[in-house]
Formats: sequence, C-alpha cells, structure tokens
Amino acid sequence: MTNTTRRSFLALATVALAGSSVAGCSIIGGAGEALTDDTESTETVAPLDKSRTLVAYFSLPETDDPNGMSEDESNSTHVVDGKVLGNTQYVAQIIGERTGAEVFRIETAEELPLDHGTLEDLALEQQETDARPKLKALIPNLDDYDTVFIGYPIWWYDLPMPMYTFLEQHDFSGKNIILFSTHGGSRLSGTVDTITGTLSDANVIGNALTISRDDMDSAEGEVADWLDRLGQ
Ligand SMILES: Cc1cc2nc3c(=O)[nH]c(=O)nc-3n(C[C@H](O)[C@H](O)[C@H](O)COP(=O)(O)O)c2cc1C
Repeated sequence: MTNTTRRSFLALATVALAGSSVAGCSIIGGAGEALTDDTESTETVAPLDKSRTLVAYFSLPETDDPNGMSEDESNSTHVVDGKVLGNTQYVAQIIGERTGAEVFRIETAEELPLDHGTLEDLALEQQETDARPKLKALIPNLDDYDTVFIGYPIWWYDLPMPMYTFLEQHDFSGKNIILFSTHGGSRLSGTVDTITGTLSDANVIGNALTISRDDMDSAEGEVADWLDRLGQ
C-alpha cells in the first residue's frame, strides 16, 4: 500500500484548490463546460453517417438501487425513470439517442468493487502498476464504423486503466475518434493528449466534451450544444 493509497482524489483536489494544480490541469473550472481544457479546440467533423458511427463508453455506477443512496453512490450515478445509470453511461446514452449511433459498453472481465474506497484503492494500484485489466469483450465489428465516440470517467487524474486496454486492443487507424468524459473536478485532466498519443494512426478530434458529475441534470443541453459545435 502506498502513501496515496486510501486518500481519496477529493482530498488531493482540496490541496490542489489551495493553490496548485495536478497533472498540468487546473482543478478549478466552471462545471459542465464543453470545451476541452487541453486544447480549447473548436474542431468540427463532417455530418455523421449513423450506421457507421459507434458510441463506446466505460462507466461504473456504484449502485443499481435508486433508493437510499450514500453520497459516493449518488456522486457516481444519474437516475432516469427509476433506472440507475453511471454518469458517463448517461452521457453515452444521450449521444446515442441524438446521433442514432449504436452504443457499446466497455466492461472488465473481472467485476470491479462497488464500495467507493475499495474501488479507489484498486484503481490507484492498477495505475501505479501500469496494469491492463482484461476486458469482457472487444467491439466485434469495428470495421463497420468510421467514427467512434469514446467516453470515460476521470480516475486518479487519468483514464481508468481498463481504457488503456481498450485503446490498445483495437485498431482505430483511420477512424475519427470523438471523446467525452465525466469528472469530479479535474475536467479532462490531459486525457485528450494521452489518447491522441496512444491512437497515433487515428484522427482524434480535439473538441472533447467534459461534464462535471454535479451537472448531470443539464447533460442533455450540454451534449446538444457540443454536437452543434462539432457540426452535427
Ligand atoms: C476510482 C475513482 C477515481 C476518481 N478520480 C477522480 C479524479 O482524479 N478526478 C476527478 O475529477 N474525478 C475523479 N473521480 C470521480 C469520477 O470521475 C466521477 O464521479 C465520474 O462522473 C464517474 O463516472 P461514472 O459514473 O460514469 O463511472 C474518481 C472516481 C473514482 C471511482
């Protein structure tokens, strides 16, 4: 167990708010802003062919029970019509509905713990050991798609490690990649640059969406505005 283990990212964020920044990314920032803090890009894409567009996302709602949630559970979820969705899952669903694209959920082969502290510890350990957790399934028909929206939550100021497995185990060469993310204060935290570096043969659009977990109620509007800005 390391020094940072068992210290939540929020505790670290509080320190950062006192005057510094983490991983080159200011923690302070208007919630729900759609422009990336990495590039402030306004890049657009040609109108999407929905049959050749996929939305792939990773998300970990910390409960599936809409009643009596703890603060941690509530932080990681958004309830729609009595159904509990993860924050990123909810944003993926909206993008799927608005674009008509199919939606693929990225899941680990081994179930992840739902207890927040246990999950934080495991995520940190995976990051520190540069782990590549096995995935339950890969996208079976990636060749059918020209454009892939890829969504993820920020974990420890970075991508969750299963996202690295996902990025490395698919061949995204020549595809348009459009990124979206949800976070608890760190915004995109350098992940657009990370993914652009990892998928060097793909066309990663700089205009990524980031939405704070505190702004899930306005996610529909945020997504609509962002898709407009992307030229959709
Ligand atoms: C293990 C773990 C680490 C996290 N680390 C960060 C972080 O470094 N910065 C941040 O802004 N939010 C962090 N969060 C908060 C999540 O990014 C935020 O709650 C997100 O909306 C969760 O999305 P999901 O419900 O789709 O999984 C972390 C959450 C977890 C579970």
